[in-house]
Amino acid sequence: MDVYEAVRSRRAVRGFTDEPVPQAVLERVLAAAAWAPSGSNLQPWHIYVVTGAPLAQMKKLATERVAAGDPWDEREYVMYPPVLKSPYHERRATFGRERYSALGIEREDWEARQRAAIANWDCFGAPAALFCYIDRDLGRPQWSDLGMYLQTVMLLLRAEGLHSCPQMAWSQVRSTVAQVLSPPDELMLFCGMSIGHEDTSVGYVPTGRSALAETVTFVNG
Ligand SMILES: Cc1cc2nc3c(=O)[nH]c(=O)nc-3n(C[C@H](O)[C@H](O)[C@H](O)COP(=O)(O)O)c2cc1C
Repeated sequence: MDVYEAVRSRRAVRGFTDEPVPQAVLERVLAAAAWAPSGSNLQPWHIYVVTGAPLAQMKKLATERVAAGDPWDEREYVMYPPVLKSPYHERRATFGRERYSALGIEREDWEARQRAAIANWDCFGAPAALFCYIDRDLGRPQWSDLGMYLQTVMLLLRAEGLHSCPQMAWSQVRSTVAQVLSPPDELMLFCGMSIGHEDTSVGYVPTGRSALAETVTFVNG
């Protein structure tokens, strides 16, 4: 698959079939993704790949916990500033509108929104997931390395005919994830990522992007 096609066909898929993802494919993707760049080649990502019974257990624990109204784990990092200024505020509002309209949910219907959110912790039905941790001692440049690594994984998954959804939502139930994975204390969970074959019967509204001139400045000689 051409890189442009991989980039354009990647999107946050929120409905997967239960068709398993072969271990050999996951190994091929993650072995290739290891070639992602990182400052001073620190390779600060710590990845756990979870399938089968451990993933089923994690989904069960997390969805039951959230459905029962158990409060989320204390945040270990700031997901978004408490007040999002323009233009981020407007972009987030547009995203929320598109997401809930795809699901046929009214903005004020908090319960329906909560039900939709719970699908996060079922990995939207995906049979495989990865969990991306970072050493607590590392800083912003290393967090950005994680982003490059994760995007590389997602593009390689496209080349394998697979889809994904990166999910910070998993950091909200990080103690449940830790219950299953037992990561060392020095690691902090950044996000999970659902991986699998798209369930094409699940509707979605494609996200848009700002005009190039809003985010890119060419300074030509
Ligand atoms: C680091 C990161 C965390 C995300 N967390 C979630 C999440 O918890 N749940 C979810 O449904 N989507 C999540 N997303 C997906 C974004 O909402 C999505 O990438 C964005 O709206 C753009 O849409 P697209 O990826 O389909 O183009 C996350 C994306 C990123 C990069």
